Amino acid sequence: MFLIKEIDQKGVEICFELDSNTICLWSKTQWEGEFKKNGVKVFAIFLENKIIGICVIQVIIDEAQLNYFSIMQRFRRKGYGSLLMCYLIQKCEELNLNKLLLEVSELNSVAENFYKQFNFLTVGRRKNYYKDGSDAVLKEKKLIN
Ligand SMILES: CC(C)(COP(=O)(O)OP(=O)(O)OC[C@H]1O[C@@H](n2cnc3c(N)ncnc32)[C@H](O)[C@@H]1OP(=O)(O)O)[C@@H](O)C(=O)NCCC(=O)NCCS
Repeated sequence: MFLIKEIDQKGVEICFELDSNTICLWSKTQWEGEFKKNGVKVFAIFLENKIIGICVIQVIIDEAQLNYFSIMQRFRRKGYGSLLMCYLIQKCEELNLNKLLLEVSELNSVAENFYKQFNFLTVGRRKNYYKDGSDAVLKEKKLIN
């Protein structure tokens, strides 16, 4: 059985470990910093009491910026990412937020496909944004409230 819930800074080690084994986005210090930021919420999906995916949003006034979204490799393409995203959208709607925003590398076609399923629309582009020279594609989803 799966469970999705918000986690606090006590989960920092496990977040860092999952990140190190998936997309290596942040150092331990960056994860610690993330938990301390105003408006940051971290949600985790648990399978048999083990975290298999994490997402991080930062709420700024009436919008949420999706800063992190990753499912452990061996649990991908089984619907867990969709469960976590559905939960996140519902949470943001409960908070009366108007938009969910994110940026994704133009090279990440898997994520592109994934976000398309949730009707994220491309609203902009940041040229040469990533270390490898790829552009960041800016996406947003309008929320219902
Ligand atoms: C993107 C990610 C979160 C998707 O999680 P997931 O649990 O595998 O997603 P789901 O199983 O719920 O898939 C939902 C839909 O996304 C799309 N999708 C997911 N994986 C895909 C793949 N490998 N190739 C093509 N489309 C894919 C499909 O449309 C899929 O629906 P379908 O299985 O009915 O065809 C996961 O691949 C991941 O963690 N990637 C690395 C981190 C990352 O890129 N995060 C986003 C950066 S902003």
